[in-house]
Amino acid sequence: MPALHYQQQTLYLDDVALPSIAHQFTTPCFVYSKRTLLQAWQAYRDAFAGQDALICYAMKANSNLSLLKLLVDAGAGMDIVSGGELERALLAGCPPERIVFSGVGKTVTEMHRALEVGIHCFNVESSAELDRLSAVATRMGKTAAVSLRINPDVDAGTHPYISTGLKGNKFGIAHAEALATYRKAASLPGLQVVGIDCHIGSQLTELSPFIDALDRLLSLVDQLAAEGIVLQHVDMGGGIGICYDAETPPPVRDYAQAIAERLAGRGLKLVLEPGRAIVGNAGVLLTRVEFLKQGETKNFAIVDAAMNDLIRPALYEGWHQVLPVEQQEGLPERVYDVVGPVCESADFLAQDRTLAIRAGDLLAIGSAGAYGMAMSSNYNSRVRAAEILVDGDRVQLIRQRETLAQMLACEQACLPEAG
Ligand code: LLP
Repeated sequence: MPALHYQQQTLYLDDVALPSIAHQFTTPCFVYSKRTLLQAWQAYRDAFAGQDALICYAMKANSNLSLLKLLVDAGAGMDIVSGGELERALLAGCPPERIVFSGVGKTVTEMHRALEVGIHCFNVESSAELDRLSAVATRMGKTAAVSLRINPDVDAGTHPYISTGLKGNKFGIAHAEALATYRKAASLPGLQVVGIDCHIGSQLTELSPFIDALDRLLSLVDQLAAEGIVLQHVDMGGGIGICYDAETPPPVRDYAQAIAERLAGRGLKLVLEPGRAIVGNAGVLLTRVEFLKQGETKNFAIVDAAMNDLIRPALYEGWHQVLPVEQQEGLPERVYDVVGPVCESADFLAQDRTLAIRAGDLLAIGSAGAYGMAMSSNYNSRVRAAEILVDGDRVQLIRQRETLAQMLACEQACLPEAG
């Protein structure tokens, strides 16, 4: 049975009726299926079981501590991009040797902390970053394990805002600069060159760009070996895209098979950094219709969730399924834009959806587990949503709804000086 399904006319996530969650925790809230999360993780783990692979969940997709703990306990490593994410990984109990550190702008403080705890590897994105890391490591008397993120210049065919492997974006080291940058890395004190990595984009629903990128990296691996720079691992970055609507991403075992064929006999370890594929379809955003409004040319369902909770539709034209939580008979179907209360025209969760709904109804926004809560904000001074985990018929609050006091805690109104 799929995690999200109707029983009679009520929508359930696993064995929990979603109206009961709205009743207990109010809306908007994110609701996650433990079973779906762990199944997605296990699909990756099992597909790569025959290979020497370290799978580091990219926690930028969803960094809730309870979800991280579930994944760490199931054997996941973590791909982090900030000092904050490093502390989350450690709090979730992730062994430092299962952590890789990505990102273009690592600070001295972040490097220091990562070296102190002893992470697996730094994915370095520029020559200047190599200098900084070498200086920090040398000062600490440590050696930093380094992989260089190479921009393989392949077209991932995904939305331009989430495409990262082409010339002209800020990520990685240009393919043409790769050898020279490796030579420099190998000559700097405090560094040990161990790997090569890439991340060409997110929500890719075909394997060929991944494989083209891998072939380009492996040709560099060979050229480096000829110069005496012998690498230990290749890191392919993020995972395969997911099905939001009608996409048909290839099964991960096909990806594993294609990688295995190319790595056979090379003695290279594999690192992967899937985010969306692990958590994306494990979660829904539960929201209530406040008002129905008929505009001059459109009908609007104004709901209590907004772009501050789920920014994907506004930012990338992301498409998310909208499901009524209670299916009603006898209501007229209308075409709605599902919009939030935020003062922006881009504040929509879905457009042009045929729905039979009334004010007060609950809606579930599908595939909201990845880049939902993690990208949420306080825009319009809206508190951040609660997060709830469903485990069979059990329900657990894993992040409380932010309070107004918590939202305001870092500020005070500066009063003008008396007199
Ligand atoms: N590794 C690196 C270096 C990354 O930059 C990313 C994602 C990942 C791994 C994980 O990629 P995934 O497996 O999730 O595709 N907010 C956008 C997606 C941004 C992805 C950023 N980097 C969205 O909601 O579509």
